[in-house]
Amino acid sequence: QTFFKPINHAAPPSPTKRHTKISVIGTGNVGMAIAQTILTQDFVEELALVDAKADKLRGEMLDLQHAAAFLPRTKILASVDYAVTAGSDLCIVTAGARQIAGESRLNLLQRNLSLFKAIIPPLVKYSPDCILLIVANPVDILTYVAWKLSGLPSNRVIGSGTNLDSSRFRFLLADHLDVNAQDVQAYIVGEHGDSSVALWSSISVGGVPILSFLEKQQIAYEKETLESIHKEVVDSAYEVISLKGYTSWAIGYSAANLARSIIRDQRKIHPVSVLAKGFYGIDGGDVFLSLPAQLGRGGVLGVTNIHLNQEESHRLRNSAKTILEVQSQLGI
Ligand code: 2OP
Repeated sequence: QTFFKPINHAAPPSPTKRHTKISVIGTGNVGMAIAQTILTQDFVEELALVDAKADKLRGEMLDLQHAAAFLPRTKILASVDYAVTAGSDLCIVTAGARQIAGESRLNLLQRNLSLFKAIIPPLVKYSPDCILLIVANPVDILTYVAWKLSGLPSNRVIGSGTNLDSSRFRFLLADHLDVNAQDVQAYIVGEHGDSSVALWSSISVGGVPILSFLEKQQIAYEKETLESIHKEVVDSAYEVISLKGYTSWAIGYSAANLARSIIRDQRKIHPVSVLAKGFYGIDGGDVFLSLPAQLGRGGVLGVTNIHLNQEESHRLRNSAKTILEVQSQLGI
């Protein structure tokens, strides 16, 4: 406090500069990958961590705090008590059981449903104005659960969804074409899981629509080649889980990327899990699944109306059906 002698007429802090706070619930591999990626990107003043395991939590907090000399300044807090999250702009929920090798994401539902009943109400109590970003799996159904349990408007409840699958897709396409993945515009939508849908008809590379380019150049491509790239996306997580036991780095970057768009009001379009009823002919119930959505400080600002061909629409509606079927067994 006394280290600096205060300057008498120093300008007061600018009233337009907002103090921003993010809370990360769950300090497993995913939660910590998200936390550390956020810290490196310098868009938040305060980061709060919550976990049920007090020792692990304190260890993770200290380990991050010890990097202070190498990182932008961020206040890092941690507690088993949700009071530490008070006043968060964004709460990222990663807590929960994770898949074991070969297990589908949908299989985790019952285990994570009861956890959410203990997590979501205190988060909303301490941060009634927050945006919830759900990362735990099965992410689409748990985003629906979080929406129900929180009572928040649907624009403030978002699932990390296929933002990650789309990055995997762009990586594979970029690798095939030997270009930069950031120049590949390509979306995977629908369930973050086995029934996800690749939107081939809208892919472009550096502004060039790829399928019509191939057709114009009379370059033959097999439908099977396209299917096999999508299959590789779907199999990605299974492969990583069977090799290292879990996935963490890519979901860490994916969620931090979403957090940045929200906190910095970037108005970028991300394929994320949103309340999908009424979009793209999806009806039959309140279902959350990934659609290309514009994100900003208000959460979900809108859903982009990309042209889908008949097969893509059909697959997307089937993906919604798959999720709704599982959801209907929840009784919530
Ligand atoms: C992932 O796709 C397992 O959902 C996690 O990496």
